[in-house]
Order: sequence, then C-alpha cells, then structure tokens
Amino acid sequence: MILRHLKATDREAFEKLLDEWDDSPGFNMLYGLIEVVAFSSYLKVLEAMRDDLSCLYAFVGDEIVGKANVRHHLNKHLENLGGHIGYGVLNHQRKKGYATEILKQALDYCRELGLDRVLITCDENNIGSCKVIERNGGVLENLFDPKDGSSLKKRYWINL
Ligand SMILES: CC(C)(COP(=O)(O)OP(=O)(O)OC[C@H]1O[C@@H](n2cnc3c(N)ncnc32)[C@H](O)[C@@H]1OP(=O)(O)O)[C@@H](O)C(=O)NCCC(=O)NCCS
Repeated sequence: MILRHLKATDREAFEKLLDEWDDSPGFNMLYGLIEVVAFSSYLKVLEAMRDDLSCLYAFVGDEIVGKANVRHHLNKHLENLGGHIGYGVLNHQRKKGYATEILKQALDYCRELGLDRVLITCDENNIGSCKVIERNGGVLENLFDPKDGSSLKKRYWINL
C-alpha cells in the first residue's frame, strides 16, 4: 500500500472510490467539496489547499482503499476534535490492516513536513481507530466532551 497525493492519471480510481464510499460517519472523504465538477478541477483545489491540508490516498495497485487528511496546523477546534490526521478505509477493505498502514505512512509524511508531534483524536467507542492509533505509538492525553450529545473524544499524541 502506498499513501500519496492524487495525480492526473488517477481519475478512474478516484471516481470508483467515490462510488464505493458509503459516507460512514467519522471521516470526511471529500473535505466539504461535494460538487466535484471535474477531476482536474478537484486536483487544482487540492493543490491550492496543500499549505494547510494534504489529502493523501491509499493505493493498492491501481485501486484506492482509503485516505488520510493531514492538517498541518492545529486550531482551537482541531485541538479538541479533529487533530492533525484523519483517515478512513472503504467498508469492504476494512480489518485488513490498511488503516494502521495509512496512519504509519501519514506519520512519515508529517515528519517530512517538520512536525515533531501530532495529535490524533477518535470517538471513545471507535475501537478500530483507537487500536490503529495505539499501534502507531499514540499516548492518550485525555477525553474531551464535545457537549453536543455525541460520544467522548479520545485525544492521543504521537511523538515523531
Ligand atoms: C476506523 C477505520 C479507519 C479502521 O480501518 P481498518 O483498515 O479496518 O483498520 P485496521 O485493519 O488497521 O485495524 C486495526 C485493528 O482494529 C481492529 N478493528 C478495525 N475495525 C474494528 C471494528 N469496527 N471493531 C473492532 N475492531 C476493529 C482490527 O481488527 C485490527 O485489530 P486486530 O489486528 O487485533 O484484529 C475504519 O473502520 C473506518 O474507515 N471507519 C470510518 C471512519 C473513521 O472512523 N475514521 C477514524 C476516525 S479519524
């Protein structure tokens, strides 16, 4: 599995991913860009956001199995709820170790960005995601209560 930016030749793989992504809660595949007019325009948007946000796709051969969103800087909201890195794996590709590998490669990417530690958050009851973070060296700092009726968020730090 290789985690990388999209390129012009990935249009087919990207469209297949959008067809297959079931909008599971917990991960934003398109990052708010719902109206993707053309793949080439989407690539330009990703490029323009790249100082703050890197969208990295997990390829197995020619197929995309998941994605990581790497936020380069934290703001007040991300400090409690989003953290530096979010990730998601297609439903039918889960429990094969892909998320663990996606986070590992996303951490390598953060190291290259010059970050020395990253914050990762997940819902307290998201057992899979908690395991993924702990297997990548996550140290639990605390639980944050968003006070909106949703579940508590575990806040983990990983030293790079
Ligand atoms: C959470 C998520 C990313 C896990 O992806 P994945 O590719 O299945 O994770 P892995 O295969 O690397 O699994 C790591 C461990 O967690 C376990 N696991 C994964 N999903 C699980 C689940 N729903 N319940 C219990 N354990 C789970 C795996 O079995 C594995 O443990 P094991 O080796 O002891 O068997 C995936 O379910 C997903 O995309 N969910 C929706 C989005 C989301 O919640 N993202 C995380 C928040 S940023």
